[in-house]
Amino acid sequence: MAHLDRRLFLRSAGLAAAEVFGGKLHLLAAGAPGQGKSFGPNDQIQIALIGAGGQGQGDTHWAVQVPGVKLVAVADCYDGRLQHCKETWGQDIFTTRDYREILSRKDVDAVIIATPDHWHKQAAIDAMNAGKDVYCEKPMIHLYSDGHAMIDCAQKTGRIIQIGSQRVSSVVYAKAKELLAAGAIGKLNMVNACWDRSTAMGAWSYTVPLDANPETCDWPRFLGTAPKIPYNAERFFQWRKWKDYGTGVAGDLFVHLFSGTHFITGSHGPTRGMATGGLRYWKDGRDVDDVMLALFDYPEGFNLNLRVNLISGGQENEAFLFTGEEGTMEISKGALTVTRSPRPKDPGYTVGTFTNAMQKSLLDAHTAKFPIEHPSGEPSASTEKYTTPNGYSDSYDHFHNFFDSVRSRKPVVEDAVFGLRAAGAALLSTESIERGSVVHWDPEKMILAKT
Ligand SMILES: NC(=O)c1ccc[n+]([C@@H]2O[C@H](COP(=O)([O-])OP(=O)(O)OC[C@H]3O[C@@H](n4cnc5c(N)ncnc54)[C@H](O)[C@@H]3O)[C@@H](O)[C@H]2O)c1
Repeated sequence: MAHLDRRLFLRSAGLAAAEVFGGKLHLLAAGAPGQGKSFGPNDQIQIALIGAGGQGQGDTHWAVQVPGVKLVAVADCYDGRLQHCKETWGQDIFTTRDYREILSRKDVDAVIIATPDHWHKQAAIDAMNAGKDVYCEKPMIHLYSDGHAMIDCAQKTGRIIQIGSQRVSSVVYAKAKELLAAGAIGKLNMVNACWDRSTAMGAWSYTVPLDANPETCDWPRFLGTAPKIPYNAERFFQWRKWKDYGTGVAGDLFVHLFSGTHFITGSHGPTRGMATGGLRYWKDGRDVDDVMLALFDYPEGFNLNLRVNLISGGQENEAFLFTGEEGTMEISKGALTVTRSPRPKDPGYTVGTFTNAMQKSLLDAHTAKFPIEHPSGEPSASTEKYTTPNGYSDSYDHFHNFFDSVRSRKPVVEDAVFGLRAAGAALLSTESIERGSVVHWDPEKMILAKT
């Protein structure tokens, strides 16, 4: 028995040793290639913003830092945001409530679409038909029927369309993709990902400005194809809480986790999904859930397990854990940690309940067949961490990649097919909760499949 105890002790000592001695830290090189190039006034890409709220203004902040990119126009349905765009980017910016006035301008080459989800399809199709390239925010679709219309329009018009899941351009995700393909964690069998939040802002209860009223907010234009109801400031400024305009937890947050999973694994998507959840805390009139858990089967032989909890009680946490047969990769707080734990060749044994003579015979035979390969008794795990320099922004890199494609006409990093595969898979969760059943999906044709 002393022999068994010693082996157990050495196994745990081996893990501790790996933690102390195995860790290596790497700083990933930042910046998309071609950074620092300069462009003459005739060589500028002139852009316009459609939907100048939180994300639209944030996107534009990064977009105009890409060399050779200039903002010339902005469309939004709330006057205060149009005025703020002038305060930020200059009084000479053309502003309008009607984005069609932007699309008819010859000096606009490309548009950023950062409207609520229910406008993505129409604004993107109108922009491509007007000859503009498009950066369209995630989730690409509000309804399943939006997706193929957008893909078909991009093909018909030959315009570039990139979807705005910025992590697809992240150097951290690129490293994870490279390491997974190189076999760093062996064959992948499980992906766990979560996004937990605990604040009112995290649960989309955004501030309504004091001057919001039907004069300053173009309510009919905001509604678009949504059901016609009287002006409602909460719906205008906190639209994510209602299915008429948004896609709930699935389209807002799961979609980022799908984009990351698909980019890193190279998969086209799951074949079926099932979800549960509910509205547990934020009972403020919204018709979407604040907790959602979902499971997906991937044809490559791994499962994806997702969680969003808007009432988590802890700090905001967005994280991935990729588990393979020989290790794990974790992405959390913008860093990637890879732990390689080669599977032991020694299968171990359970002999303690047998006669002493039998234990001895079995142990002798075992030691003869599996001599202790490592002094610690376990192949040692090694850990490496990859981080980015201070100030690194995947949003900047995503725009850099987009504008590279606008110039070169080469494919974007995240086209409409990728966008539909991510958003279509994400919306399976809502579909599953509504139907109370498993939902099947064809990731190649990007359609809901018959059971
Ligand atoms: N990539 C990311 O990390 C990320 C983060 C946040 C939001 N988003 C996405 O960006 C989009 C916008 O989200 P947000 O948080 O900025 O919302 P927001 O409410 O802050 O801004 C939306 C703006 O669109 C305007 N708008 C509505 N209808 C319009 C129309 N027909 N024409 C022009 N403007 C119109 C509204 O007036 C509003 O100012 C959403 O699809 C969201 O999912 C992406």
